[in-house]
Amino acid sequence: MVNVAMEAALEAGKFLKYNVGKIKSIERKMGQATNLVTEIDKQSEAIIIKKIKQHFPLHDILAEESGSHNQKSEFRWVIDPLDGTTNFTHAFPIFAVSIGVEHNGEVVAGAVYDPSSDEMFSTEKGAGAFLNGKRIHVSSSATLIESLLVTGFPYNVKENPHHAVEHFVNFLMEGQGVRRLGAAAIDLAYVAAGRLDGFWEVFLNPWDKAAGTLLVQEAGGTVTNFRGKPASIDEPNTLATNGKIHDRMLEILHRSL
Ligand code: IPD
Ligand code: CA
Ligand code: CA
Repeated sequence: MVNVAMEAALEAGKFLKYNVGKIKSIERKMGQATNLVTEIDKQSEAIIIKKIKQHFPLHDILAEESGSHNQKSEFRWVIDPLDGTTNFTHAFPIFAVSIGVEHNGEVVAGAVYDPSSDEMFSTEKGAGAFLNGKRIHVSSSATLIESLLVTGFPYNVKENPHHAVEHFVNFLMEGQGVRRLGAAAIDLAYVAAGRLDGFWEVFLNPWDKAAGTLLVQEAGGTVTNFRGKPASIDEPNTLATNGKIHDRMLEILHRSL
């Protein structure tokens, strides 16, 4: 399954890269002025679903743009065909394809492909996390002042949902720096690779985090909700760290829960 996830992510990712600057239609989702979807998101999703169905025609699928394709299988593929759509519409080269596979509700394999840097992050439960085939590990930073953190904001951030703005300010004051890349799957992959030390976001969807969560765990990191409970992919609030700074980040999140 991990090989099919990688093949699908690679094919869709190359399609995304080829289409930078060639978008024909931008729609707004759910009446939100900043929540964009393009025809490229939908076409990328079609490429991925076609590939999965060739190999696993009886598996379930949850895909961001077309929803649930339910066949009552033990397996479910959870797909973000273009993570970082806002970046993509600006030809800002931070976006990715994210594909996770669940078995009985637990993520067991995943791939995140960043076509701009040609980086394929892959993982299988119990087998580790890899970047272009080489094993990756989370960082060893033990304090926030040595830690480069990353976050993302939901599309309704202007309403400051779940104190998203307060969390951002608190971490800005405590950490070495805070980045906002605009693609949650890349945020999580970078925590797995040790490039970033911790990631939090108040509201993610399952497709944003399915593959990335397993990447972080298999790279030796910790993923929970904001109350420190092991995070299912259906849990919107997400804290993913190298493990060493996890408790400290939970303390800071608690200030504004
Ligand atoms: C978004 C990105 C962004 C995160 C948002 C997501 P999309 O996904 O991952 O970084 O902050 O919460 O919705 O819409 O580009 O697939
Ligand atoms: Ca996404
Ligand atoms: Ca998306």
